[in-house]
Amino acid sequence: MSIYNVKTAVFPVAGRGTRFLPATKASPKEMLPIVDKPLIQYAAEEALSAGAETLVFITGSSKRAIEDHFDTDPELDAALLAQGKQDLLDTLRGILPSWAACVYIRQSAPLGLGHAVLCAKPVVGNAPFMVHLADDLIDAKVPCLRQMVKVHATHGGSVLGVQTVPKSETDKYGIVSVEDPIAPRVSRISHIVEKPKPAKAPSNLAVVGRYLLTGQVFEELTQVGKGAGGEIQLTDGIARLLKKEPVYAYEFEGKRYDCGSKLGYLQATVEFGLNHNKLGKDFRAYLKQLSKTL
Ligand code: UTP
Repeated sequence: MSIYNVKTAVFPVAGRGTRFLPATKASPKEMLPIVDKPLIQYAAEEALSAGAETLVFITGSSKRAIEDHFDTDPELDAALLAQGKQDLLDTLRGILPSWAACVYIRQSAPLGLGHAVLCAKPVVGNAPFMVHLADDLIDAKVPCLRQMVKVHATHGGSVLGVQTVPKSETDKYGIVSVEDPIAPRVSRISHIVEKPKPAKAPSNLAVVGRYLLTGQVFEELTQVGKGAGGEIQLTDGIARLLKKEPVYAYEFEGKRYDCGSKLGYLQATVEFGLNHNKLGKDFRAYLKQLSKTL
C-alpha cells in the first residue's frame, strides 16, 4: 500500500494580510507571485505531490481571486488558442490536475488559525489531513509535506514542520519543547506555546506553516477559547492534542522563506528568480552588474 494516503489538504487563506497592505487590500496575500506563480499555487503543488486529492481552501473577504485562479477560464483559453499560444495554454491547464477537487469554505470572520482549521471539519471528517500556510514557502528537493507524510506513515500521530529560529524571534511563532529524537529529525513534542516572549520561550524550535494532523484535533479545537492576540489558536488545540496522542516535531529538509513579511518575500523572489529555468541566467547577470553599484 502507498504511504501517500493522507488525501485532504487544508489551506487557511482567510487572514487579513495586514503586513502587506496596501497590496493586500483588495487581493489576497496568497496571490502574490514569486516570479510567475502565485504563492497559493506553490502550496497546491506541494500538497498534491504529497498525495492530496482534495484541496480545501478556508477563505474570507477579498479572496475570490483564489477560486478564479484554480477555475478554468474558457474565454482566456479560446483567446490563447486563437493566437496560437499553445505553451501558455498548457501552462494554464497545468495549474491543477483534472483529478484534484477544490472545496471552498468561507470563514465568517478571521477569528484565528485554529478557527479557520476547524471550519474544514465537515469536509475532512476524522481522517488525518495536511494544513499548509501558503505564505511559508519552502524550497526543498523533496517537498516538505511529502517528507512529513513519510514521517506520519512511519510513526503515526500528528507531525509539525519545525525549524530553529533566533531566540529573539520566538514571539512570532508557536514554540515547542521536545523529547530525545526517536529518528533523525523526528522528536515527540512535550509542550507547545504560542508566541512566547524570548525570555519565557521553552526553546527556539519554531513551528512553521506545515502540519499533518489527526482528526482528533477538531475535538480539541472546539474546546479552546480565545488565546494569544484574542484569536482561537491552532497551537492551543495542539497543546490539548499532545496530552492524548503523539505529536511529533519534524525538522524538515529545505529552505523556508517567510513570504508573509516583505523581506522574506523579496528574498524568495530573488532566489527563485536566480533558479528560474528561463530567466535565471539573465537575472544572475543583472544582479552581478547591480552588485557593483551597491
Ligand atoms: P497570519 O498570522 O500570517 O495572519 O496568519 P495574516 O492575517 O494572514 O497576516 P498579517 O499578520 O495580518 O500580515 C497565519 C495563517 O492563518 C490564516 C492566514 O490566512 C495565514 O495563512 N488565517 C489566520 C486564517 O485563515 N484565518 C484567521 O482567522 C487567521
